[in-house]
Amino acid sequence: MAMNVYSRRRLLKGALLAPAFPFSVGAQMHPPPEGMDRPSLDPNTLAQFVDPLPLGEPARSLRMRLAPGSAARRVPFYRLAMRQIEAKLHRDLPPTRLWSYGYSALSPILETRSGQGLWVEWANELPAGHFLPVDHSLHGAEPDKPQVRTVVHVHGARVPPESDGYPEAWFEPGRSLVCYYPNEQDAAMLWYHDHAMGINRLNVYAGLLGLFFIRDGFEDRLSLPSGKYEVPLLLCDRLLDRGGQLYYPVSGDPKAPWIPELFGNITLVNGKILPYLDVEPRPYRLRILNGSNARFYYLGLGGGLVFQQIGSDQGLLPAPVSRKELTLAPGERADVLVDFSAHPGRPLVLHSDTSALVQFRVSRVASAQAAPLPKALRPLDRIPEAAAVKTRRLTLNEYVDLKGNTVLMLLNATRWHMPVTEKPVLGSTEIWELVNLTGDTHPIHLHMVRFQVLDRRGFEPFTYETSKTLRYTGPLTPPSPDEMGWKDTVRAEAKAVTRIIVRFEGYTGRYVWHCHILEHEDNDMMRPYEVIAAPPQAQS
Ligand code: C2O
Ligand code: CU
Ligand code: CU
Repeated sequence: MAMNVYSRRRLLKGALLAPAFPFSVGAQMHPPPEGMDRPSLDPNTLAQFVDPLPLGEPARSLRMRLAPGSAARRVPFYRLAMRQIEAKLHRDLPPTRLWSYGYSALSPILETRSGQGLWVEWANELPAGHFLPVDHSLHGAEPDKPQVRTVVHVHGARVPPESDGYPEAWFEPGRSLVCYYPNEQDAAMLWYHDHAMGINRLNVYAGLLGLFFIRDGFEDRLSLPSGKYEVPLLLCDRLLDRGGQLYYPVSGDPKAPWIPELFGNITLVNGKILPYLDVEPRPYRLRILNGSNARFYYLGLGGGLVFQQIGSDQGLLPAPVSRKELTLAPGERADVLVDFSAHPGRPLVLHSDTSALVQFRVSRVASAQAAPLPKALRPLDRIPEAAAVKTRRLTLNEYVDLKGNTVLMLLNATRWHMPVTEKPVLGSTEIWELVNLTGDTHPIHLHMVRFQVLDRRGFEPFTYETSKTLRYTGPLTPPSPDEMGWKDTVRAEAKAVTRIIVRFEGYTGRYVWHCHILEHEDNDMMRPYEVIAAPPQAQS
């Protein structure tokens, strides 16, 4: 079960119209999906590696403001506005209409240190109408709601509930929301993105996503490649038409245009199609995010190069893990070192399966020596199962109509607006058993907390549906070595029980957990959960 066939199939589903691989010929990008309602761009007609990889602009704070509840401590205050922009995604394409938190297809990068709080005023300066097809039959997107609504969530951040971007806390064009991020957590690459109820998939797809780095002293002391030797890679697939414009396909039912997954024909890497980066023959640190709506990436490098993975969603692993292939589901991050020193003067391509993503052009000489890769990274204590005060069994469900079309996805067979059922006590530890009854992998994300993956085990869904008993079909599989760090998003594999152990540290209040396939999240694979205060100690 190391590599599950269902998530592979997810990728291949969109690949039926592909020309013959391998990726050395032409721009091997994702082919047009089936049932497209608009002629899509043939990515094989685009010249490869003609645009330099954008590295992103840092967000700039213009002023300081008192931290909440403090009379003396001043912290940076940022203002990031969402706007409609036009951006060149490729040298040979006309500008593409997008939404951004800045002025380009790669939104400004927020960066701070652990314990250094910051304010962000998220301003909605978008037009009043959405340029992508809103499905008004979805919960939260009814016709009486404004078409354009936004709310921002920092994925992976431990923040008080009022700043977490609750899906129903959306605001309209002309309005803004000021949020505070305490950043009291380990160094990690987080990301911010839209979370508005019922249209989240469209808003993120339009471009409302960006990177958020937290640094700390522990990480500094490891002397990892930094500055120009540390490169963010934000991957997200998009569907472009022949005119290079973004579009989002519809189901064919005008009353319910929602589709169960969006697969693009190109992947943007930091906002460009098939860019290149000049690198030196030395180690680099790549910070990779899968920001796609639904696509999984299976990343590999040419030239026999391997990734030394040093971190995952919530920061550094206990020790580096050498990997030929990296799987990243939507929402997941990987922090990897890649050593180009054995390839001076050569071009190397990062690819996903057979699709090229970005080319590294290795120069002949390195300008500086790199420190050796540390053998140990951040120590991590595994949470003992015995620490859990509660085990919750939670199912993942898919509903199909008579024609076999997926019409709804749920968590624990419960819709979003039903009463809150998961109410962990602040500071307590729980085990969540994600019982995936569907034939696909779902990346499950919990807000506010970080967790550890315990194990997975295949089971027989039919028996479960009929008698609520788990009939296992195989042995327990431990998490793979790259999942041995702190996570905030876990691949709940098809027809398997995935168990995670979570300590609910942070704040009390209302948060959410959901599938990070954004089409699923919008219809209706998301549930609130509430962290409650510990009851007063019983008299002894
Ligand atoms: Cu990326 Cu609800 O989160
Ligand atoms: Cu999140
Ligand atoms: Cu899902």
